Amino acid sequence: MCGIVGAVARRNVQGILLEGLKRLEYRGYDSAGMVVRNAHGHLQRQRALGKVAALEDKLESGALNGNSGIAHTRWATHGRPSEENAHPHQSGERLAVVHNGIIENHEGLRAELEGEGYVFTSQTDTEVIAHLLEREASHTDLLSAVQTITAGLDGAYALGVIHADEPNVVIGTRKGSPLVVGVGIEEAFIASDPLALLQVTDRFIYLEEGDVVRLSGNGGIEVFDSQGAAVERSIQIFEHGDGSASKGDYRHFMLKEIHEQPKVIAEALEGRLGDRSVLVESFGPDAEALLSKASQIHLVACGTSYHAGMVARYWLERYAGIPVQVEVASEYRYRRVVVPENTLFVTLSQSGETADTLAALRFAKQGGYLGSLAICNVPGSSLARESDLTLMTRAGPEIGVASTKAFTTQLTALMLLTLALGRVRGQDSEEQARLVSALRGLPAQVERVLELDPQIEILSQAFAEKHHALFLGRGAHFPVALEGALKLKEISYIHAEAYPAGELKHGPLALVDSEMPVISVAPNDELLEKLKSNLQEVRARGGELFVFADENVGLADGDDTRVLHLPYIDEALAPILYTLPLQLLSYHVAVLKGTDVDQPRNLAKSVTVE
Ligand code: AGP
Repeated sequence: MCGIVGAVARRNVQGILLEGLKRLEYRGYDSAGMVVRNAHGHLQRQRALGKVAALEDKLESGALNGNSGIAHTRWATHGRPSEENAHPHQSGERLAVVHNGIIENHEGLRAELEGEGYVFTSQTDTEVIAHLLEREASHTDLLSAVQTITAGLDGAYALGVIHADEPNVVIGTRKGSPLVVGVGIEEAFIASDPLALLQVTDRFIYLEEGDVVRLSGNGGIEVFDSQGAAVERSIQIFEHGDGSASKGDYRHFMLKEIHEQPKVIAEALEGRLGDRSVLVESFGPDAEALLSKASQIHLVACGTSYHAGMVARYWLERYAGIPVQVEVASEYRYRRVVVPENTLFVTLSQSGETADTLAALRFAKQGGYLGSLAICNVPGSSLARESDLTLMTRAGPEIGVASTKAFTTQLTALMLLTLALGRVRGQDSEEQARLVSALRGLPAQVERVLELDPQIEILSQAFAEKHHALFLGRGAHFPVALEGALKLKEISYIHAEAYPAGELKHGPLALVDSEMPVISVAPNDELLEKLKSNLQEVRARGGELFVFADENVGLADGDDTRVLHLPYIDEALAPILYTLPLQLLSYHVAVLKGTDVDQPRNLAKSVTVE
């Protein structure tokens, strides 16, 4: 939530900062702002309510010019979206700060500062940081001021700071929120995400918890650890290229990312499959030793990643014979968890920066677990760095707030984990070989389902005027139904619920009438006949059914039923394939409703606050 960018460059930084904000808009987009230090040593500020485009308009008539600056795009936590609450926040005319995160002790600090005569002009928690820094910087340099005041901040933060008296200097620091340093040619940058800086560099330093960085002229980059000691942090090359930051020929990032799924699923599999079994060694040198000791799994995640974990529970118990508990991170982290011996702690996260998931990992590391595995899409993210073992999902950057390719690559990685655990636990080798072969064919199957896009677009017209929808699935397809409902809610703002189809008669059936579309996935699996009976219950109550069904299961269009056929797939992999039509359906409904598909209201891509 919230995106930060900062630069010290040989050229005017306004364009670099503005482009960075556009690329960070997925993190928050209710207001934006920028401060640039000009050649006369003055801080110039522009802020605007609304998206980065509104700031861009302001900059057209009131351009900023200088070699150093900081900028921010906001997702409101403290104080409503408004220009006064937009960052950068200043204390007087000489110091400005941008912040991502939450300062939990801001009320006490605010009272203290007001007592000393500081006047607050916003309702944000961030403004205390500006005044604390101003107070400290009146008798020391900016770097020391940042190191001193952050010791008194509780909560999570990534900061970018600039002072009028220090030409060509930007200070950055992070604790609990992401911040990377971009290494340019005689230029240096900070940002919440490498994506923000791919137009100027592909070389990055991933700051560690508590690190402070000082950017200065001619590309100066000095990093200090949480104890204030100067440290060397390695430079890593960003390998995903810059194409991910553009929509290409697609109308929205979400649609582009849906259509990237055959390619990224193939990438998630690359080098990880042998002829008849998964290559456990491809998970890393320590993987086999860790996995072979595991006798239970606790799987923790949020949102879409949690749904992936729920699918994995069915797989891990059925194919690897290992007991699994799945829980949302925001609940897990505050629970007294009983940890049986040899339990592996697994986190799932696209971003690797989700505050609740990260907190759950840190809590789990306090004791009792065999070890931790992160299934993650962002190399160098906090989750990846703090886990014993990492399995990268290789989806490439996902910009649309609604997670699509990140989900299906998580599922792919989770099936690989299932097979790896199955292998070390003596899974039947014929079954392993069958699943490996099915995985190899998966990208082509996904391609075939995407060809149904025009038919799904037509189907979506039936939803544009609806206010509610019910999603049904059974077994591993119940979480697929949950994911379908989440997608529809997120981007079309239609109220959607998901149930295991067998639960319908225990309550939700009362909701079914001609105004309640019911969407179901019906793969060719052992629960098919049970599901068909559940669908009859809907028909009998006058409900309108939309079914995505295997081409061989004998379900066909009727007066009250629309059926779209999917190609046959091994039932183990069906949850991956059956997710796609639900993604496309939500997308087309949202387009028909005219909502902001890539940046739906009130949400942010990376939830780095609790
Ligand atoms: C999915 O469409 C959502 N944007 C959201 O539920 C997301 O999956 C959740 O916030 C977890 O994010 P993570 O995978 O980056 O941890």
